[in-house]
Amino acid sequence: MNASIAVLEGDGIGPEIVGEALKVLDAVAARFGHRFDYRRTPFGAGAWFAGGAAFPAESKAVCDDADAILKGPAGVALDDMRAIPVDQRPELAILELRQRYNTFANFRPVVLPRRLAGLSPLRPEIIGDGVDILMIRELVGGIYFGEKVEGEHTQGRYASDDCHYSRAQIEQVTEVAFAEAKARGCHLTVVHKSNILATSRLWEEVVEELAPRFPAVDYSSILVDNAAFQLAVDPAQFNGVMLLDNMQGDILSDQAGGIVGSLGLMCSASVGPEKSYYEAVHGSAPDIAGRGVANPFSLIGSAALLLEKSFGLGAEAGAVWDALWSALDAGRVTVDLAAAGGPEPLSTAQFGDAVAQGVLANGNAGGAERGR
Ligand code: IPM
Ligand code: MG
Repeated sequence: MNASIAVLEGDGIGPEIVGEALKVLDAVAARFGHRFDYRRTPFGAGAWFAGGAAFPAESKAVCDDADAILKGPAGVALDDMRAIPVDQRPELAILELRQRYNTFANFRPVVLPRRLAGLSPLRPEIIGDGVDILMIRELVGGIYFGEKVEGEHTQGRYASDDCHYSRAQIEQVTEVAFAEAKARGCHLTVVHKSNILATSRLWEEVVEELAPRFPAVDYSSILVDNAAFQLAVDPAQFNGVMLLDNMQGDILSDQAGGIVGSLGLMCSASVGPEKSYYEAVHGSAPDIAGRGVANPFSLIGSAALLLEKSFGLGAEAGAVWDALWSALDAGRVTVDLAAAGGPEPLSTAQFGDAVAQGVLANGNAGGAERGR
């Protein structure tokens, strides 16, 4: 196929890990006879320093025009960020990107196969059989998009963040979660804080209304604080799909990165009705930028999700997942996953090379674990 991909390299380690994802996409194109047209365009703090906008109009046009968007993390160290007015910072540009394409369903696979359980910092008896969870995070509503007020009254300064969800907003992502659990034949866990939050109570209501349409899906719900605890002591109980609101999904998906051993393993797909974009779950890690030590797994996995979800290229995506897991199986890991006293870790580019070679060598194998 011929397809165009808007490429937002972002800041910090962004360009390095995006480069490796494109290397792997090139291998997919060569192996399967596709043509991907990459359209690089500025986004993030670098774009702001260069032209005064973190998501410039030219980049919006490139994204509007492309079939899918691959995005590196954006943002610089806090000290450098102070130069950028709060309302023009890269984080807000990310929210703008999400809103622009209404990417309401954010897929964050949390996968660690049993044989790689040693990568987890959890004790073997806890992580023993590995995990296979798909976190689905609502991405365009809730407290991140509500009104923000900072003011002063007689008693001093105050601030508020409004958390607002409409029934329709909850329904669309809940439907995706039920459908995904049905397709996988797995359990659905709905995370909420309905003992306190009105939005969570509405969420529970919607879940109960939708459930009869998916009789094959076994589901349960859990309070978010308990879910955080349970994830640390028995993560495999959540194997299947977890549905979370915007903020709860943000927090628990970082915790999930800790459970599988590195945020460098956390990929994502942000899916909208017409266009989707793909990025790592983690940030731009300015402290390690430019040193060739970042783990590109997160962005290569995100590129695999792009192949599958935006282009319907399931076999190609499977070949990328196979190559990713084979590299880890062979002990080929970047420094974030390297064991003390173990073999020399791979550089960012060496890991990308290993995956690209794996795709070229085994393009048709079809994968067991697909990062789901
Ligand atoms: C994420 C990130 C973003 C979020 C930030 C960078 C705006 O933490 O994608 O998880 O909060 O959603
Ligand atoms: Mg986050």
